[in-house]
Amino acid sequence: MAYYRQVGEVPQKRHTQFRDPDGRLYYEELMGEEGFSSDSSLLYHRGVPSAISSAEVWELPDQTRVPNHPLKPRHLRLHDLTTGTDAVTDRRLVLGNADVRISYVTTGGHESRTPLYRNAIGDECVYVESGSGTVETVFGVLAYRAGDYVVIPRATTHRWVPAEPSQLYAIEANSHIAPPKRYLSRYGQLLEHAPFCERDLHGPTGVHLEEGAEVEVLVKHRVGGQVVGTRYTYATHPFDVVGWDGCLYPYTFNIDDYMPITGKIHQPPPVHQVFEGHNFVICNFLPRKVDYHPLAVPVPYYHSNVDSDEVMFYVAGDYEARKGSGIGLGSISLHPGGHAHGPQPQAIEASLGAEYFEESAVMVDTFAPLDLGEGGLAVEDPEYAWTWARSLG
Ligand SMILES: [Fe+2]
Repeated sequence: MAYYRQVGEVPQKRHTQFRDPDGRLYYEELMGEEGFSSDSSLLYHRGVPSAISSAEVWELPDQTRVPNHPLKPRHLRLHDLTTGTDAVTDRRLVLGNADVRISYVTTGGHESRTPLYRNAIGDECVYVESGSGTVETVFGVLAYRAGDYVVIPRATTHRWVPAEPSQLYAIEANSHIAPPKRYLSRYGQLLEHAPFCERDLHGPTGVHLEEGAEVEVLVKHRVGGQVVGTRYTYATHPFDVVGWDGCLYPYTFNIDDYMPITGKIHQPPPVHQVFEGHNFVICNFLPRKVDYHPLAVPVPYYHSNVDSDEVMFYVAGDYEARKGSGIGLGSISLHPGGHAHGPQPQAIEASLGAEYFEESAVMVDTFAPLDLGEGGLAVEDPEYAWTWARSLG
């Protein structure tokens, strides 16, 4: 996150004495990325942020990955995936590689508040397919609703508090997640040609304090390249930050605030990009006016994204290019690198003359091949790979 924010109380000068009304010093923490050479924030704690009293193994849900071999395009029906109700511990792994993992969970209602949790591997970007609630963090509280990306920086202690059942599509990076560099000024401001701006990014507005002793926090981390978990117990409650400031904090961004870039002829896929991480990008295809050349073909051309696996998650509307493929709301399509893909043939003629598409889809393109997680394999439509050929017959 490029721009500065201050919430709660902070001392006038950083790294100076800052005391509570009873004269006790607060404990200052610098939370910084890339060896303190990138974005950071200063947080002021009532307790000691490193005071743990126990560490035990936290057994994660099944993280097994199966290679996409033989190489096939895949269709996964996420709405058929049954999960437990905890937004953190009941995520089922759908797809993943060494850079990013995609999981899915349908939470319960307000009774399904998660444990305290942080991901020490990388940033998380959780797309809210449906539902609403809050995410309580050491930086304060974020409200979430359908269509939000909830971006939570690496090592941010937080918990999900659904107000109602929520379908969550969790993109967990092994890196940081940020807006595309080409949309940023040399100092990090979103530029005029970007499809969104800082007003659309919603960070915490107040601090969130809780009292407690011997408080558990689940930490996701890596051991020898494997994703594992540890359950810490903290002497005092981690939600003890009375103030913070800086450029590193969680925020939400709603896809309704993304202004699609359209053109006289078909615009290339990068115009749909919203975020990027190391070795992957996140894009969204949203309701928009389509190409207005008199001979325009509104659906995409066939394309071979030779360096990427493309993962489309169909979240609303009617995705024109996939008509006739069996894909519907809640579906994922995986189009791996090395496989040219595009519309079902009949969708091309059907699209001519269209002026508006109602589709909404969230796309993750990875620069290394994706494996299938156990959740993805559980809801695969095995016939998808043959749908283009069958539609010719
Ligand atoms: Fe594609």
